[in-house]
Amino acid sequence: MALYIGLMSGTSLDGVDGALAEIGADACRTLAAAYIPFPPALRAELMALQSAGPNEIEREALAANQLARHYADCVAALLAESGSAADAVRAVAVHGQTIRHRPELGFTRQTNNPALLAELCGIDVIADFRSRDIAAGGQGAPLVPAFHQALFGQSGRSRVVANIGGISNISVLTGDGSVRGFDTGPGNVLMDAWIARHQGKEYDADGLWAASGTVLPELLAVLLSEPYFALPAPKSTGRDLFHPAWLDAHLAAFPGAAPADVQATLTQLTATTLAGAIAAYGGSAEAVYVCGGGAYNGTLLRALAAALGGNIKVDSTDALGVAPNRVEALAFAWLGYRFSERLAGNLPSVTGALGERVLGALYPH
Ligand SMILES: Nc1ncnc2c1ncn2[C@@H]1O[C@H](COP(=O)(O)OP(=O)(O)O)[C@@H](O)[C@H]1O
Ligand SMILES: [Mg+2]
Repeated sequence: MALYIGLMSGTSLDGVDGALAEIGADACRTLAAAYIPFPPALRAELMALQSAGPNEIEREALAANQLARHYADCVAALLAESGSAADAVRAVAVHGQTIRHRPELGFTRQTNNPALLAELCGIDVIADFRSRDIAAGGQGAPLVPAFHQALFGQSGRSRVVANIGGISNISVLTGDGSVRGFDTGPGNVLMDAWIARHQGKEYDADGLWAASGTVLPELLAVLLSEPYFALPAPKSTGRDLFHPAWLDAHLAAFPGAAPADVQATLTQLTATTLAGAIAAYGGSAEAVYVCGGGAYNGTLLRALAAALGGNIKVDSTDALGVAPNRVEALAFAWLGYRFSERLAGNLPSVTGALGERVLGALYPH
């Protein structure tokens, strides 16, 4: 047993989620959790770095330095909350911020300055978890299913864990130890972009704006015609595909659509694509446990339950004892444990890699 810190900043670009946990072969106990939102300027720059732009090597490096300082603030908050000293922590496992995800071209880029983070916090840092899986022919994503299996998959029952971040991914835990999982498509990313444009808000709290509108079936059908949804697993995606320009291209044929109705339709898109993926790969599951920020969107959860036809119970991971907004940071703490023990972090059945691989690169403090 040792202490590990996991730091996750996902495609929503909202901020850094951190967890400090005691982890061993049969245990994963959270001792502290923290969230550090990104200041608007950093968020805007990370958003801009999602696509080609001028002088991007320098801009990426400067953003990475800033990011590392936010990660270090999150580490400090976790140490303070748990009353732990830095030298009691075996490693900080940090995801970095995805600015490109192109497994089909053989790369993914999570920007970060792990050397600076090691310098700032005085703890070994493990970074760059996705590249090795891609080098082995995998998608490099999603990586959380192995952790979902370790933490939630030992019940002998068939369960689905649905992580609704910027992008959504599912883990199908069959109960007999085998796991499938993949990115189903957008989670919050399009809903966030739409409410930012029309109301200047970062997200649609509890889905109340969406609930004030009506789903537009014709627009939904056009959005669902995106070929990604019909691709077989393994597959992964990101802002590379689901960005505001993707939405605008599909909206062009609906110039009179009321903004609230579009929000309702985008919420339904996330629910429908998740439910379709669950029906196709996890139809016999007893329950779907939702984590990620989307778990706090009641409209979305109701739409998901309805889209599943009432056959599968929908709950949040709170029902399994882990707050939805902690699961992914905890998953990275667990991946840090796996690296430290030189155990595989990927599941070839999920990512499509040629085999199990130890994921990550070490920056000793
Ligand atoms: N109370 C809430 N109501 C609706 N949506 C929420 C709420 N809280 C968080 N979210 C959504 O969750 C997102 C953050 O989720 P998160 O799991 O951190 O995603 P990521 O891993 O992509 O950063 C926010 O951008 C927002 O869309
Ligand atoms: Mg986030």
